[in-house]
Amino acid sequence: MSEHLQILLKDIKEPDLHTLEGYEKRGGYQTIRKVLQMDPLKVIEEVKASGLRGRGGAGFPTGLKWSFVPRDTGKPVYLLMNSDESEPGTFKDRVLLEKNPHLCIEGMLIAAWALQSNWSCNYIRGEYAYPYERFNNAVKEAYEKGYLGDGVFGSSFKHDMVTHRGAGAYICGEETGLIESLEGKKGQPRLKPPYPAVVGVYGCPTVVNNTETLATLPWIMQHGGSEYAAIGTEKSTGTKLFSASGHINKPGVYEVELGYPILDFIKNECGGILDGKELKCIIPGGSSVPVLKADELEGVNLDYESIQAAGSMLGSGGFIVMDETTDMVEVALNLAHFYAHESCGQCTPCREGGHWIEKIFKRIAFGQGTERDMDLIKDLCKQIGGHTICPFGDALITPALSCMKKYPDEFKIKIERALNGNPVKATDLHYTF
Ligand SMILES: Cc1cc2nc3c(=O)[nH]c(=O)nc-3n(C[C@H](O)[C@H](O)[C@H](O)COP(=O)(O)O)c2cc1C
Repeated sequence: MSEHLQILLKDIKEPDLHTLEGYEKRGGYQTIRKVLQMDPLKVIEEVKASGLRGRGGAGFPTGLKWSFVPRDTGKPVYLLMNSDESEPGTFKDRVLLEKNPHLCIEGMLIAAWALQSNWSCNYIRGEYAYPYERFNNAVKEAYEKGYLGDGVFGSSFKHDMVTHRGAGAYICGEETGLIESLEGKKGQPRLKPPYPAVVGVYGCPTVVNNTETLATLPWIMQHGGSEYAAIGTEKSTGTKLFSASGHINKPGVYEVELGYPILDFIKNECGGILDGKELKCIIPGGSSVPVLKADELEGVNLDYESIQAAGSMLGSGGFIVMDETTDMVEVALNLAHFYAHESCGQCTPCREGGHWIEKIFKRIAFGQGTERDMDLIKDLCKQIGGHTICPFGDALITPALSCMKKYPDEFKIKIERALNGNPVKATDLHYTF
């Protein structure tokens, strides 16, 4: 594996890092002490200078988002850490919550000071029982030490932090779905604008940031925004966590500087393709982004601009690798099943269309496809894309369209076999749901 600067995963293998003592032994909670002496607006300027972009998927500049929060409205400002992490292929925040929860807390405190927020919450995915326990224990330790609560670190700043465990819904990762859920309602996204920075939890200004985004802040505030901006590329600064899975020898979570070549990442970090097989394609940023074929990866780097120019997105960094044996009809079906199941049901095109798409992919996969099925799916996708309250509708159609666009013959062969009376047998598939 090549050497990469480790901002987030440094010391991650130390068995006591998750304890307050283990974290402080390695310099933890020093930066927040310094930050509490700074003008909060200067902190925002420093984060802007770092070029840090949100690691939750959209890549929105963090400092800029904070600057949208209105000050002196008389209303409290809330800070939410988004640890919902339910996008298929994404499991990077989990590592931070489990192994370095105090880094996340220090990051939250830095953001809280910048925003002058006295209350924050970490919204953790329901299935993350162990990360929840680890994070909660860290919060307790921080309270006991006086790092949270009234007079944080002996200052006059008050900050309370709670942990909220979701119930296992992917849509609660969408920031306004998360806010609704936190308020005790169904996790159904709100129309935007207004954006949460202005109207969020209980109508108050609210900043929602991803776990990795917030965990990066202690390093930025320790070393300075310009030092962070010098890492990576001009527009994609810093390092990023990638959770690598699929047909590779070394699945896991890796931290690399943005701008690192994808093919090097597959070879060096992922350890190459399993059983010496050929690479077929990847999904670079979690299941909601388009597939990139092996022959499209030459010269493409792990950064926002390079992946976009290649026709996909960096997203959350959920890096899924598929080898030559992968059946793309099954990939499309598997993901369609996920999205149909996870639709919150609020918007008709998504609630109904998701199931229709799954149903059609299922009949193609099971040897009952008809001549018009691919056009039918494309037509359905047109009715869903851009016609829903939140981007879930677009997330749903992306894998469906991209699998069919990149590998049309795999769909056509199955359909032709069905039409010629030689259908694919169910036993040839991996379909288990
Ligand atoms: C369907 C859907 C699911 C999402 N899931 C997550 C998630 O699990 N974690 C996350 O940080 N952001 C998720 N997002 C993005 C959030 O809405 C939001 O942009 C993000 O939390 C902002 O933090 P950042 O600016 O630090 O990236 C999701 C968005 C959508 C549309």
